[in-house]
Amino acid sequence: MLAERIGRIQESGTMKMKALASQLKKEGKKVISFTVGEPDFQTPKHIVDACIDALNAGMTKYIDAPGLPELREAIAEKSKNENNIQCEAANVFVAPTKHALFESVFATVNPGDEVLIPDPAWVSYVPFVSMADGKAVPVPLLEEASFRMTPEQVAEKITPKSKVIMMNSPSNPCGSVNTEADIKGIADLAKDHDLIVITDEVYEKIIFDGMKHLSIASLPGMFERTITINGFSKTYSMTGWRLGWLVADKPYLKGISKIQQHTITHAPTFIQKAGVAALKGPQEPVNKMIDEFKKRRDIVYKYIQETSGASAPQPKGAFYAFMKFDADMTDEEMAMYLMKDAEVVVTPGDSFGAAGKKHVRISFATATSDVEKGMAGIKAALEKL
Ligand SMILES: Cc1ncc(COP(=O)(O)O)c(C=O)c1O
Repeated sequence: MLAERIGRIQESGTMKMKALASQLKKEGKKVISFTVGEPDFQTPKHIVDACIDALNAGMTKYIDAPGLPELREAIAEKSKNENNIQCEAANVFVAPTKHALFESVFATVNPGDEVLIPDPAWVSYVPFVSMADGKAVPVPLLEEASFRMTPEQVAEKITPKSKVIMMNSPSNPCGSVNTEADIKGIADLAKDHDLIVITDEVYEKIIFDGMKHLSIASLPGMFERTITINGFSKTYSMTGWRLGWLVADKPYLKGISKIQQHTITHAPTFIQKAGVAALKGPQEPVNKMIDEFKKRRDIVYKYIQETSGASAPQPKGAFYAFMKFDADMTDEEMAMYLMKDAEVVVTPGDSFGAAGKKHVRISFATATSDVEKGMAGIKAALEKL
């Protein structure tokens, strides 16, 4: 009864584990969830107020698909000032982040086109490519390169059928951050082989140890071949608002706009006013959240280093550690063992791609006290094996 393409799409591994954690909590079990990539902070009040004001002002009607002009303007300003992307409001398209990524893939990938995807990667890239009848080509990220996506690894996977390179730095699930040299090398490959880059920069602000985020679209000759995706969920703790954007050259926007006109029309009007408040309002709440994530990163990394039978590169960005385990178990068996023994729910590493095997992802976007307790539990459980 269902279309053949549905058979090619896996259920989201992160959602499965999140559902399991919720179920256990409902049963009264005191599990600590290290599963979902959702900041535990409240959305800053000035952002909430801007949305309420917009509702009271009657901003409840249709607008044009690309978004509220005021928000597009604010995003273009941010992209120019912070990311050095030479764009204007007409290059900005507002959509929930996940949908912006889907639309970007759908608008650029023909059946059979190869799309290079980091492995491990966030769970939705491969399904996007499958839905567009493209071929996802994993680019294994190496532990010895701290899971960065290096030009050498990308170059190995380029063929005459390659069309798109997908990038994600800081990375979910690895917490890695590409260096300037990595990004420049990938840009050169994209230019040499006439490839499009779709770069998912949702964690750009959550970055540690003085590392700097570099947008590939800011490099010479890259704007015209790059779709830059970003959003409000992670930076402003706005996951439930479903608001994000993309910045791209106008021919891409034409295609993407057609998809949006025939799918979601536009992101909710009053929510877009909250987006303006987020970008133009005080940034202290963001800085506070980042400081807190850094503290938690330090706790998680300290425990991993102290645990025999476990290892991980130090996370440099986002709020994830990708922890390797030595025990003779599958990733799912390990996740189940940690749930039973340590009452901690993690995500099996192979949910993020074959190169994720023998790992679990630990999301530290949860209360600092739980991070400490959960990591102590994981250490004790692993050392029993
Ligand atoms: C790498 C990455 N990209 C995109 C998204 C989707 O963001 P949103 O929930 O705002 O659509 C996520 C969410 O977890 C993510 O981790």
